[in-house]
Amino acid sequence: MKTIAFFNNKGGVGKTTLVYHFSYMLAELGYRCLAVDLDPQANLTSMFLSDERLVDIYENENERPTILDAIKPLDRGIGDIKEVAIQDVSDKIGLLAGDLELSMFEDKLSESWGKCNDGDEAAFRIISSFYRVIDEAGNRMNADYAVIDIGPNFGAINRATLIAADYVVVPMAADLFSLQGLKNLGSRLEKWRKEWDKRKSQNPDRDLKLPNSAIRPLGYVIMQHGIKESRPVKSYLKWANRIPRVFVEAVLKKQLLSDKTVEEDENCLSLLKHYHSLIPMAMETRKPIFSLKPSDGAIGAHLGAVRSAFNDFKTLTEKIIAKINEQEN
Ligand SMILES: Nc1ncnc2c1ncn2[C@@H]1O[C@H](COP(=O)(O)OP(=O)(O)OP(=O)(O)O)[C@@H](O)[C@H]1O
Ligand SMILES: [Mg+2]
Repeated sequence: MKTIAFFNNKGGVGKTTLVYHFSYMLAELGYRCLAVDLDPQANLTSMFLSDERLVDIYENENERPTILDAIKPLDRGIGDIKEVAIQDVSDKIGLLAGDLELSMFEDKLSESWGKCNDGDEAAFRIISSFYRVIDEAGNRMNADYAVIDIGPNFGAINRATLIAADYVVVPMAADLFSLQGLKNLGSRLEKWRKEWDKRKSQNPDRDLKLPNSAIRPLGYVIMQHGIKESRPVKSYLKWANRIPRVFVEAVLKKQLLSDKTVEEDENCLSLLKHYHSLIPMAMETRKPIFSLKPSDGAIGAHLGAVRSAFNDFKTLTEKIIAKINEQEN
């Protein structure tokens, strides 16, 4: 199983929407996918599950079958992780449900990060808990890919999640702040990778399975829905065409030999369109936009848009898989 996190510390760019559609497209292409909601806002979980199922999960008085439940013994200092509940979304998609209370684990993760330096065994169990929960659940459902959604920040939950990811995809907008954000993201990923590599060597329990902190960047996806309709195309392109250089220098930490436009850049995985009214239709019916049918309201021109969305996500998903295969071989 390969683990892919979708991450950008800038909020509202469309990460969760992308993770949701990517998971469904993996399934369309025949892969088994474990979707993991590690954003305490749990937006991915509410996209996947019906209101009835959400009530069943979150109004359970005794224990909530979420990712938090699996790590609770560690949080309370009374044991190690336990088997997590996998929510069936379809025959090929399983979901680890998010939890609003996950944010309470932030302090423990933060404190443990420092303690790993002293070879503290409990700290290593805590820092590796997301990795171990995902690894076990992925093996149990025989997943080809684990796809992770996280919140937009550089907090301890995201650090513990990202060191557990083999790959990272960066969804982003094309504007001044996103470009600035990309630089911060690149230096933060490099810092976390280095810090974890240093800590890993202090692990006292050789039998404890630890993440290897690869966090290899696969590329970026430009989300065009954030572009203000009134903004001239030229202004958008001005920012978009600066991304290839910043991505290579700040995220891949390489030298760019010659400038490229976003269209020419192999690190640009997709320029995703604004899907307008297909999005609320998909939310309403709890389906990906590319599976909408006339009975869901996708009639007339909408049907053409649904077909074109299918191709957009198919191309993007195949590109990500090809990039992973390239790196693995
Ligand atoms: N391609 C798209 N076309 C139109 N609307 C979109 C598209 N992608 C996302 N959106 C809308 O943009 C808003 C933000 O999307 P989403 O919640 O996926 O972002 P996010 O990056 O996960 O946010 P957060 O940082 O809060 O987790 C939502 O209302 C979503 O429906
Ligand atoms: Mg989100």
